[in-house]
Amino acid sequence: MDNDPLWYKDAVIYELHVKAFFDSSSDGIGDFAGLIQKLDYLQDLGINCIWLLPFYPSPLKDDGYDISDFRGILPDYGTMKDFRRFVREAHRRNIRVLIELVMNHTSDQHPWFQDARASKKSRKRKFYVWTDDPKKKYQDARVIFLDAEKSNWAYDPESKQYYWHRFYSLQPDLNYDNPIVCRTMLNILSFWLNTGVDGFRLDAVPYLFERDGTRCENLPETHAYLKSLRQRLDKRYKNRILLAEANQRSEDVRPYFGDGDECHLAFHFPLMPRIFMALRQENNKPIIQIMEQTPGIPPDCQWALFLRNHDELTLEMVSPEEREYMYQEYAEHPKAKLNLGIRHRLAPLLNNGRRQLELLHSILFSLPGSPVIYYGDEMGMGDNVYLGDRNGVRTPMQWTGDRNAGFSAADAAQLYAPVIVDPVYGYQSVNAEAQSRTPTSFLNWMKRFIRARKKFKAFGRGTLKFLEPKNNKILAYIRQYEGETLLIVNNLSRFVQPLELDLAGHRGWTLVEVVGGVRFPAVGELPYFLTLGPHAFYWFVLEKPAAPEQKKMPVKTPEKSEAKGNPGRGSKTGKAQASRNSGVGENTE
Ligand code: GLC
Repeated sequence: MDNDPLWYKDAVIYELHVKAFFDSSSDGIGDFAGLIQKLDYLQDLGINCIWLLPFYPSPLKDDGYDISDFRGILPDYGTMKDFRRFVREAHRRNIRVLIELVMNHTSDQHPWFQDARASKKSRKRKFYVWTDDPKKKYQDARVIFLDAEKSNWAYDPESKQYYWHRFYSLQPDLNYDNPIVCRTMLNILSFWLNTGVDGFRLDAVPYLFERDGTRCENLPETHAYLKSLRQRLDKRYKNRILLAEANQRSEDVRPYFGDGDECHLAFHFPLMPRIFMALRQENNKPIIQIMEQTPGIPPDCQWALFLRNHDELTLEMVSPEEREYMYQEYAEHPKAKLNLGIRHRLAPLLNNGRRQLELLHSILFSLPGSPVIYYGDEMGMGDNVYLGDRNGVRTPMQWTGDRNAGFSAADAAQLYAPVIVDPVYGYQSVNAEAQSRTPTSFLNWMKRFIRARKKFKAFGRGTLKFLEPKNNKILAYIRQYEGETLLIVNNLSRFVQPLELDLAGHRGWTLVEVVGGVRFPAVGELPYFLTLGPHAFYWFVLEKPAAPEQKKMPVKTPEKSEAKGNPGRGSKTGKAQASRNSGVGENTE
């Protein structure tokens, strides 16, 4: 594996649940041994980092975010030995591994909480937050799981006091005012770092501390504690990272980077719904506005960008009007709403529109940050809103058209969740095997597209400048890093669009389309004119004119037509029209 301490800047992250990926033991539940068997698939897809959802012992009332032992593996998923083997096998394929650090709470079945509720004198009592009078304490904190909980306090009949919880009442919050809790969590961090994992997604990180008179989110005490976590990481380990899950406005997320001494990455929650809004409104404004409001971050930090994940598409960070608009446009099914969000996967949100799927990946892969792909979305998997909570977006991975989608040899009734069987997204029509065989499939397109992105450091590390053409249905920007200058042009409209770009700063430069290597006319005196098909996009390298004394390298003639097509809509199918200056145009296969 490479030794670059900034590896996360160029990462393409793949989020998956062990239980949902591949079942090697035929018990209906995915496991580490099964996941290892599928690592070649992930390597072939081109991702270079896996983010694993929680795999710890748990009663699974919140899909494993309710942990009952921070140092173990849920037996259904395998053993610690299997886990270590998984990390080694991933590393052997140059794939890094991120796991969950759920610091905010435990399960109510955790022995700490069991002790705590059994006796007020127990040392563990102070691991949690208690009160006699829930009406008086921390009243300004919002309830997050609005559809399931009325209050952040729950009565414990055993010890006759109320305990604090930000999520389900079966997830009591840990008390970070207790130095033993702080120390214990640092030791848990070290425990997992010693298994070789490359970092952590810090679950629900804004809520660690509570203070009266505040919303009990993003408190200075929380940031101070995170800095101590970072110190532990940097002092004893190399190239490991922290990724903050702080579902907050971008100005409130900014402090999670500290001065480069807190988290390395944080999810860009406010951007995500605005991508969907921009698409439906056919207007670049929502994206440009939110990116312009996004504060700068320290040089070694990075945004994690995503379209969908294992939760509902959260609308907590948009205005009530915007939320209403999103519900109208994207939550047609009466069961689609959950809490303040929409429980759909990507393909159903986009009505399975191939062009929209590609366009949204063009945006996801080319704005500043490291993209996160949710398992199954690389082939346009569907969902099942009837499964309750967020389980509809957590169904078994669809590998083949065989029994149980090739996920498990168990009886269908034994699966942890039914596979998707509807006529549009069912495994008979949407599965990895079939898509691998079809050169034009979305899965093959994704493979080529991930490879195209990985050729340029500018995507993960470069500056961003919006071009703002008069036609506001076009989202266009320049990404620049060291010698690389990329021009990205996205058509948010469902109709063909003409546009003119002001590229005066690059007069004489040539545009070379990234995937096909096709050379476009050089930038002249006039604004640069382009047309884009419905929901189409172009990725160009801007190539500097050769210095006059240098002779221009001859341009290779295109070779045989590329059988597998190419992901850039509107660019001609054809192999490498290689430009020696830019290194683009190599085939992405
Ligand atoms: C995070 C997780 C979510 C979980 C919650 C409580 O938001 O993404 O799935 O329910 O934390 O742990």
